Amino acid sequence: QRRNYHENIVEHYENPRNVGSLDKNSDDVGTGLVGAPACGDVMKLQIKVDENGNIQESKFKTFGCGSAIASSSVVTEWVKGKHVDEVLAIKNTDIAAHLKLPPVKLHCSMLAEDAIRAAVSDWKAKKEGKVNAAA
Ligand code: FES
Repeated sequence: QRRNYHENIVEHYENPRNVGSLDKNSDDVGTGLVGAPACGDVMKLQIKVDENGNIQESKFKTFGCGSAIASSSVVTEWVKGKHVDEVLAIKNTDIAAHLKLPPVKLHCSMLAEDAIRAAVSDWKAKKEGKVNAAA
């Protein structure tokens, strides 16, 4: 029984895009690992970034509800080909609107927004570390 979930959720839940992992120790990979205190669900979202700051690849693993899986799937699709500064503008409300998430599931899309921000921060920290090491 599919309840009343919008078809976009069902689509991304049943056929999640970009499930998997990138090498978190690689210099060009940023990893965001976040949890939702409300429900205990966890999301890992990773990006592979080129030297110009453009995201080439994105993967996720989500241990959580269907809406969290759908949210991470959508975000990995949206960020590909974009600049790291550009993806910071992705709002959980955009994700929720795209998937037509019901209000009780808003925190699930928040997890995806937090995860992409954390992944970008991780990548930036690595990059700055490299610059400092070279200086
Ligand atoms: Fe917590 Fe969806 S119920 S992430």
